[in-house]
Amino acid sequence: MRRTSRPRSERPQGQPTRGKTARNRLRRVDNFLLIYDGELIRRQGGAWDRAFFVDLGYGAQPITTLESAARLRQANPRLPVLGVEIDPERVAVAGPYADTLTQFRLGGFNLPLREDEAARAIRAFNVLRQYDADQVGSAWQSMGRGLRPGGLLIEGTSDPFGRSWTANLLRRVGDRLVHEGLLFSTNFHGGFEPEMFQSILPKNYIHRMLPGEPIADFMQAWQRAARERIAYRDWGLRQWFTASAEALSASGFRLDLRGRLLQRGYLLWQGSPDVAPLPLFPA
Ligand SMILES: C[S@@+](CC[C@H](N)C(=O)[O-])C[C@H]1O[C@@H](n2cnc3c(N)ncnc32)[C@H](O)[C@@H]1O
Repeated sequence: MRRTSRPRSERPQGQPTRGKTARNRLRRVDNFLLIYDGELIRRQGGAWDRAFFVDLGYGAQPITTLESAARLRQANPRLPVLGVEIDPERVAVAGPYADTLTQFRLGGFNLPLREDEAARAIRAFNVLRQYDADQVGSAWQSMGRGLRPGGLLIEGTSDPFGRSWTANLLRRVGDRLVHEGLLFSTNFHGGFEPEMFQSILPKNYIHRMLPGEPIADFMQAWQRAARERIAYRDWGLRQWFTASAEALSASGFRLDLRGRLLQRGYLLWQGSPDVAPLPLFPA
């Protein structure tokens, strides 16, 4: 492929928003990626050496990008990492922290990638919450165009310190972006109740907690499952969380029941509805 210094697209899509971030806020997102698809992070050689882990919208300081670079390079020491910000001042603040494998660029949902570059994974956290719900699909599509086939977009919302969060997982399959699930994460420091996730649902779900909506049915069913299995709380919150997921699955919801996820406080609803595969390019 031709190497060029020209970004694929000139005008960043989106608008600057509040830049609040925090140390270790997104640590558990990285840990999830390493458990869920560590191979995607570890791949090296050829085009993979130009396939970034992208931290889109890293905020007022590049803390989360630098932390992820250090963390994920324990799995892949050659992992290229790209922090993308739509606010030029925030790109200037991050500049001194760049090195041969870590870069910071001005850009938007249409990633500022050169022609021989791509993203293997994109993390966009606490970005779309500040947009309108009807902008979500087109933002996903723009980001999805930057992914290599097989690459993953994880787009979500967290509480201020990253103790609890939720995220959409979207995979590029050929020329489409396919919703792989809705993920709930807690480190249990704030306790556990399914209700605690309602205020931090991703933008495409948060306004749909209405009677008859699938997300509302799911949350209610999870609350019922948690009540049914309340006795497990005596053994600890992790046991209760896991037992609630097993009861929820038994009631008909398609969940990833692997103990390595549940025991760490990750519940992935794989059958989450409402998001049809999105075309990435016009027919
Ligand atoms: C609240 S901060 C989130 C920081 C960090 N991701 C975190 O979760 O701690 C949101 C950041 O996203 C940036 N942003 C908003 N829209 C963007 C876009 N379309 N492309 C790149 N950055 C964007 C804003 O400028 C802001 O700095």
